[in-house]
Amino acid sequence: MQNPFSLINKTIVITGASSGIGRQCAVTADAMGAKLILIARSLEGLQKTGALCSQTPLLISSDVTDYAKTEHELKSAIDRVGKIDGIIHAAGISTTLPLKNITPEKLEPFFQTNVYAGINITKLVTKMGNYNKEGLSVVFIASVMGIVGELGKTIYSLTKGALVAGTRSLSLELASKNIRVNCIAPGVVESPMSSNAVYAQDKEAFDKIKSYHPLGLGKPEDIANACVYLLSDASRWVTGTTLIVDGGYTAR
Ligand SMILES: NC(=O)c1ccc[n+]([C@@H]2O[C@H](COP(=O)([O-])OP(=O)(O)OC[C@H]3O[C@@H](n4cnc5c(N)ncnc54)[C@H](OP(=O)(O)O)[C@@H]3O)[C@@H](O)[C@H]2O)c1
Repeated sequence: MQNPFSLINKTIVITGASSGIGRQCAVTADAMGAKLILIARSLEGLQKTGALCSQTPLLISSDVTDYAKTEHELKSAIDRVGKIDGIIHAAGISTTLPLKNITPEKLEPFFQTNVYAGINITKLVTKMGNYNKEGLSVVFIASVMGIVGELGKTIYSLTKGALVAGTRSLSLELASKNIRVNCIAPGVVESPMSSNAVYAQDKEAFDKIKSYHPLGLGKPEDIANACVYLLSDASRWVTGTTLIVDGGYTAR
């Protein structure tokens, strides 16, 4: 029997692949047989990820909020590597900011990186000729902050909630083209993002965050493995969902 979780003969685009969750998604997808196109700003970070893979990925050093450059470089990559079977949108930024400090200007970069960039890349890949007509799987990395709340996380929650909500409508729009769209909502995962977070600078605050996770904090592998499921044929009947991978954070 063929392994339904295999990614052999699939070409996967991963944003945010220079670090943390995106890097691990690349390493795991490579181990499952995928060919990769990796996107982030740091070429050095991408090269480090590439060195952890067995097949050589195609690297695109681009700011995903530079929409025109990212589109141009991704289109050239598709022309070279072939049609796309999956995308993981892992590029993202976070902040902790009370309402009194929120302005439209402060909101904008978070929406640009966490929401608009992913939509823009999805728009390009879902154009006729850019994806495999036998099936494309789009995976947005949202967060439990798109489902539940936390003090000071309003901006981040707004962007991640937008992904959770947008996934449902987009999945309906694209189903007839054999394109599936899903979200993953991780709890706190050990990565540069969480170790730079405000709560990580204070032992008491960090212990409190940890205590919200009955199974302890997550590892990038926990999210990468969920991505493999959503990218693979094992999830061929799954679309419009948000898969919560949070060590029990939202169970209470
Ligand atoms: N860690 C957690 O606890 C956690 C929990 C829930 C959800 N998430 C989500 O998971 C995703 C990955 O987070 P992480 O923990 O792996 O964080 P990370 O280690 O800080 O990695 C973030 C990645 O996003 C890329 N990125 C950020 N802005 C970009 C831009 N403008 N253009 C291109 N790439 C950009 C970074 O690459 P460059 O800097 O090289 O551009 C980096 O590869 C994010 O969407 C995050 O919101 C994380």
